[in-house]
Amino acid sequence: MLNLILFGPPGAGKGTQSERLIDKYQLVHLSTGDILRGEIKAQTPLGIEAKKYIDKGELVPDKVVIGMIGEKLDHNKMAKGFIFDGFPRTTTQAKVLDLLLAERQTSISALVALEVEHEELIKRILHRAKSSGRTDDADRNIIENRIKVYHNETSPVIAHYSRQNKFIAVHGLGTIDEIFERLTAAIDRL
Ligand code: AP5
Ligand code: MG
Repeated sequence: MLNLILFGPPGAGKGTQSERLIDKYQLVHLSTGDILRGEIKAQTPLGIEAKKYIDKGELVPDKVVIGMIGEKLDHNKMAKGFIFDGFPRTTTQAKVLDLLLAERQTSISALVALEVEHEELIKRILHRAKSSGRTDDADRNIIENRIKVYHNETSPVIAHYSRQNKFIAVHGLGTIDEIFERLTAAIDRL
């Protein structure tokens, strides 16, 4: 199986590139942000709980997010692999993901991190805010908090996978096509 973590700060292009990568490599896209927004839309208890955190740009508690993952893996047993987008976001989540995959006789192939500078992230998200309807896109302070939370709580996940020799950095500035080329070149070398 090809199991990729597409990593990077808010606005780095994880969702955009995931859409293309799943087509090319026949993978299942697993975005915890998309799943949580679906739960909010459906007004489930999980969604109502998650919204409190998402609207502030904080992470939803590990317990809530981890509970969603095993089920998704089992719903796609025939998959050639997964792209994890926006997950794992803490080292606790990374450790649990490693265990869930090991229980299913598979593992992470690589963590591919899109590197994009701060101002470009803000610019992209504010632009998307005009059409996304995402409550966490509309306010600059919330976007800044999401980026801060990424640096404080999420970036340590890189060290977790570096220790396993699975970390690959990809320059995330340029056109969507150029970045896709860089990603596929890195993935094809695996
Ligand atoms: P999540 O949905 O994961 O959002 P995020 O990480 O903040 O990232 P974004 O979706 O904003 O950006 P992206 O990297 O996907 O970029 P995109 O391709 O859209 O999480 C949202 C919230 O949910 C979190 O804050 C948290 O509360 C909660 N959550 C989710 N997962 C969680 C977890 N595991 N644990 C705890 N809490 C969790 O691109 C951005 C924009 O830029 C788009 O408009 C796009 O068109 C544009 N763009 C893309 N590429 C380029 C390019 N090359 N040049 C110019 N523009 C570009
Ligand atoms: Mg996204």
